[in-house]
Amino acid sequence: MIDSRVEFTFLSEEDTIEAGVLDMNECVEVIDEMFKVIGQGDYLMGGPRENEHGIMLWFPENKRFENMPIAGPDRRFMSLISYLGGKFNVCGEKWYGSNIANREKGLPRSILTVTLNDVETGQPLAYMSGNLISAMRTGAVPGVATRYLAQKDAKTVAVVGTGVINKACLLAIVYAKPDLERIKIFDINEERSRKFIEDMENDVEVEFQVSNSLEQCIREADVVTVATSGPNKPKIEDEWVKEGCLITLTGTADLTEQFYQDNSIVADNWKMHEAWYQDGLDHPKGLESIASWAPTGQLIKMVHEKKLNPNKILNLGDIAIGDKQGRTNNKEKIVFVTGGLSTEDTAWGYHVYQQAKKKGIGRPLKLWDQPHWY
Ligand SMILES: NC(=O)c1ccc[n+]([C@@H]2O[C@H](COP(=O)([O-])OP(=O)(O)OC[C@H]3O[C@@H](n4cnc5c(N)ncnc54)[C@H](O)[C@@H]3O)[C@@H](O)[C@H]2O)c1
Repeated sequence: MIDSRVEFTFLSEEDTIEAGVLDMNECVEVIDEMFKVIGQGDYLMGGPRENEHGIMLWFPENKRFENMPIAGPDRRFMSLISYLGGKFNVCGEKWYGSNIANREKGLPRSILTVTLNDVETGQPLAYMSGNLISAMRTGAVPGVATRYLAQKDAKTVAVVGTGVINKACLLAIVYAKPDLERIKIFDINEERSRKFIEDMENDVEVEFQVSNSLEQCIREADVVTVATSGPNKPKIEDEWVKEGCLITLTGTADLTEQFYQDNSIVADNWKMHEAWYQDGLDHPKGLESIASWAPTGQLIKMVHEKKLNPNKILNLGDIAIGDKQGRTNNKEKIVFVTGGLSTEDTAWGYHVYQQAKKKGIGRPLKLWDQPHWY
């Protein structure tokens, strides 16, 4: 008789920690491998363009039904799906709900889960807590960008915004550049800067300096990592940016149009940003609908207004596999933009699941012994 039993592994957040989800050095290596796989084109993301970031549940501005939520700051549901080939060969989905009011309830702003599926049968392999998978993969990306795009002898990093995401970004950048000498940090909330240092000091043995202004933080930096949230985008003036600097934008920032026109731009995968562009055009509010939250909102607008030729934007995957050259000289200023690829969650989620299997971590859950109807 055929064995039709379907079982998958459940991993709680604690399980993912035991399986190594917080190992940033490993995460940078896995995400680097993922960029090489997507550089070869061996991946699919959702939608007919095969490159959608995800599909979002937008809530209406005005009350329609008693229980239907209305729009609020950072309030959404989102599903990010992908197939990732190469050594991964797996499908994955990250699904999350986000509501800024969660903080008052002692919950993170967004609550995420990751599901992995067998590519042949579609059966679930794992259902796992996704908050740490997501934060770590997000941080690893500027680490990989730093590996390929920063100056060889980069010594100073500027951290703009001292939230969870920049903690992960900094760990990855320090791994990519072990010879760093100082880390300058700036947050509009001083208390958060202090907390950041407290949280990071044990893991990062580099001198920390708190900057009094954004300008002070950016000047003299060889690598800048921006991950702020809220309505006050950091506004970075051209003359503050040192020759040879790499700016990584994980959250949004205001750079001048001139800066984008004059300097090199590398994206995690520009095809995904083009899909955002199309989605923006299809949305009833037009491109404004993506301007406030998409890290490339400004770039997309410039492309739309024909102020920027999108052909000048390189992809990190092409650079990782050596098809395109990243940095060409020590003076070049480069902006790296990342919007978050579903393939990152699939890659890091799959790695953590594999480690859990090796270590016997997680709880098996049965879907059925025999499917009732088939
Ligand atoms: N690209 C991706 O894959 C990806 C994934 C997840 C999150 N993100 C983005 O990363 C960003 C940071 O997320 P988080 O969870 O760490 O947020 P957070 O709210 O925990 O921290 C953000 C910090 O930025 C500070 N801040 C706000 N405006 C600032 C300004 N103008 N200058 C300096 N500091 C400022 C806040 O005080 C806060 O401490 C968000 O924009 C989020 O959307 C990107």
